[in-house]
Amino acid sequence: MRLAFVTGLFCLLSAVLSLSVVDNKCIAQSKWATPAQVEGPYYPRIKPKEVDSNLLEVRGLERPDGVPLRLEGKIFDQKGRPVESARIEIWQCDNNGVYNHPKAPKGDTFDVRFQGFGSVVTGSDGYFSFLTLMPVPDHKRPPHIHVKIFRSGREQLTTQIYLKDHPDNNRDGLLSLMLYPGQRKLLIDPVDIMLGKGLKGKAASFNFVLSKNF
Ligand SMILES: [Fe+2]
Repeated sequence: MRLAFVTGLFCLLSAVLSLSVVDNKCIAQSKWATPAQVEGPYYPRIKPKEVDSNLLEVRGLERPDGVPLRLEGKIFDQKGRPVESARIEIWQCDNNGVYNHPKAPKGDTFDVRFQGFGSVVTGSDGYFSFLTLMPVPDHKRPPHIHVKIFRSGREQLTTQIYLKDHPDNNRDGLLSLMLYPGQRKLLIDPVDIMLGKGLKGKAASFNFVLSKNF
């Protein structure tokens, strides 16, 4: 009982202090679903030929410019149970802030070596992992990665995640909406890591909690 109280207090303090690394125990006890955010204008109209978890490899092409990022985590429901067989999609701009989309500003050229969109299905433990790029600012907004999660073919969450302490965050209206009490901010805090085969990069984890309303 006392341990549960202390753990709960730690989770509460973590949320209040905006710590971005919250372990699974906290997530499991959290009743707060991951906040939704707008889809934005650049969800791919046409999915790339390769749709997988490695956005840095497009067959026949070299690796794109930018800092590699391994983004991993788990998906839970609001009772703290891992969500198996959920499909999670991410999409983001290339290292020059350009999306692979017809609505991208004229004159912008997308780096075709970057897949720009990825999708993977969670295992029985709710785990997912992507290899992508560290997000960079696009023309108007701070660095972010767009996310959609589907369960049994139904869309359950659309949101965006951001870099902890990035100076542009404070200027973003969408992100500042996430600051009200009780909501965990949509932040990741990547750390330096070797991603294998001499590939230097970053790694970050983020756990999603799906709303029970679905
Ligand atoms: Fe965006």
